[in-house]
Amino acid sequence: MPTADSQKPTASRYYLWTVGCQMNKADSEKLAAGFERLGMKAVDRIERADVVVLNTCSVRQHAEDRAYSKLGRVRDLKKQKPGLKVALMGCMVGLKTDELEKRFPQVDVFARPQQFDGIMELVEGPAEDLGGEFWPTTYAVPEGPATYVPIVHGCNKFCTYCIVPYRRGREKSRTVDEIVREVAYLAVHGVREVTLLGQTVEAYGHDLPEQPDLGDLMRALSEIERLQRIRFLTSYPKDMTHRILEAVADLPKVMECFSLPVQAGSDAVLDSMRRGYTRAEYLEKIREVRALMPGAGITTDIIVGYPGETETDFEETCSILEEVRFDKVHVAAYSPRPGTIAWRKMEDDVPAAVKAERLHRVEAIELRISQEINDRYAGTVQEVLVEGVRGEQPFGRTRTGKLVHIDSPARVGSMVAVRIEHAGPFSLRGVLEDALVLA
Ligand code: SAH
Ligand code: SF4
Ligand code: F3S
Repeated sequence: MPTADSQKPTASRYYLWTVGCQMNKADSEKLAAGFERLGMKAVDRIERADVVVLNTCSVRQHAEDRAYSKLGRVRDLKKQKPGLKVALMGCMVGLKTDELEKRFPQVDVFARPQQFDGIMELVEGPAEDLGGEFWPTTYAVPEGPATYVPIVHGCNKFCTYCIVPYRRGREKSRTVDEIVREVAYLAVHGVREVTLLGQTVEAYGHDLPEQPDLGDLMRALSEIERLQRIRFLTSYPKDMTHRILEAVADLPKVMECFSLPVQAGSDAVLDSMRRGYTRAEYLEKIREVRALMPGAGITTDIIVGYPGETETDFEETCSILEEVRFDKVHVAAYSPRPGTIAWRKMEDDVPAAVKAERLHRVEAIELRISQEINDRYAGTVQEVLVEGVRGEQPFGRTRTGKLVHIDSPARVGSMVAVRIEHAGPFSLRGVLEDALVLA
C-alpha cells in the first residue's frame, strides 16, 4: 500500500458530496475507498474538511443548480480557510475546463468522471506515486448487502437531448475477469446482491476482444457462491437481445427486474430524439420480456415537453403507460443541455406550464397503475433480501425490485420470506413467515 511522502503534509479529512445516478454514486464510493487507502477520513460536515470533492451531474439544469449552490458555500469557506483543497468532479466537467476555471476560481482541480488522478495529486502529490495497481485493486467498501458495480462506462448512442456521451465518453467495458474479481471480493465482505451498471448495459462486451455479452458475464458471476442476486440497469431496447433475455430467464440468481426507458410514446418524438426504435418495436420488446418472465418488474423513464411535442404526441405517451402498465415511471420535464443535438438544432418550445401539467398527468396515471399492480402482491409471500434497517424497521426488495418494509425483526443480509399485508403505490409492507427463512 502506498504511503504518504513525509515532506508533503497530507490532508486527512475529506467531505465528498454526490448527486446524479448510480454510476456517480459508484464513482464516489471508489474515490472514497482510494482516500481511505491513503489514511484519510470521511467527515459529514463540510466545515470540518481539509479536502472537499463535489461529484456532479449535468443531466438536467436542476442537478447543476444544486452544485452551484454548493460551490457558493465552498467559496465562502475557502475565504476563511485558504488551505482548503477543492475538487469538482463528474458530469459537469467536460473536455475543456477554461469556462469552469473562470467561473469557479475556488476550485483547485476539475476531474472528468472516473479521472481520479488529478484529485489524488491534489491530496497526495504526483499520481505515479500511487503505482499502476492502485485503482484496479481499490474496491468500494460495501455499505450493505446490496451494491452497484459499473461494468460498461460511457455511451455511444447520442440521443439528441442527452449530455451523458459528451461527459462520460464512448462505451468501454471492463473485462469479465476484472468484474468477477471485484464481485467475489464484495461477496466475501457481505454483499449478496449486485446491480450491474451501464448507460446501455446490454452494450456490455461489444468492445472486448472476445465479445462476451451481458448473459456471459451474468453466467460467470452466478458461480460466485455467496452472491445470491444479480440485477442490471439501464436497458436499451435495441441492444436487449433474445440471447441476453434467455440468460436472465434461465439464471436463478438473476432478478426478474428491468429498467427499460421508453422516453416517449409517439413515433415522431422517438424519431426526433434518435432513440433508434419505434413504439411498436418497444412494445414488442416488452412482450418478449413478459413471454419469458411473466410478472417481471419493469420500470421506465419518460421525458415530457421535448421540443415539438404536441398534445397528440403527449397523449401517445399516456397511452403507452396504460398499455404497458409499468411498475414505476421516472418522469422529467425536458431541460435543454448545452452542446447536445437538441440544444443546437431545436427550440425549447413547450412552455414551462405545459411541461409541468404533462408531468403531473404522467404522475397521476402512474400512481393509479402502480397501486393496482402492487395490490396484486397483497396476500402473497415474497422472497426479500434484507438490505437495511430504518428506525426499527427492516426493509429490502423482492425479486421484481419492489421495496418492502418488514414489520418483524430480520437480520440485515438475510434472505427471508415475507407475507405482504399492505400495498401502497411506492412500497409494500409485510411480516416474516417464520417457517420460511430462506438463508
Ligand atoms: N441511459 C439511459 C438514461 C440516462 S439519463 C437511457 O438510455 O435511457 C437518465 C434519464 O434522464 C433519461 O432516461 C431521461 O429520461 C432523463 N434525461 C436525460 N436527458 C434529459 C434532458 N435533457 N431533459 C430531461 N430529462 C433528461
Ligand atoms: Fe443518454 Fe441515450 Fe446514452 Fe441513455 S442511451 S445515456 S439517454 S445518449
Ligand atoms: Fe449520471 Fe448525471 Fe452523469 S445522470 S451519467 S451523473 S449526467
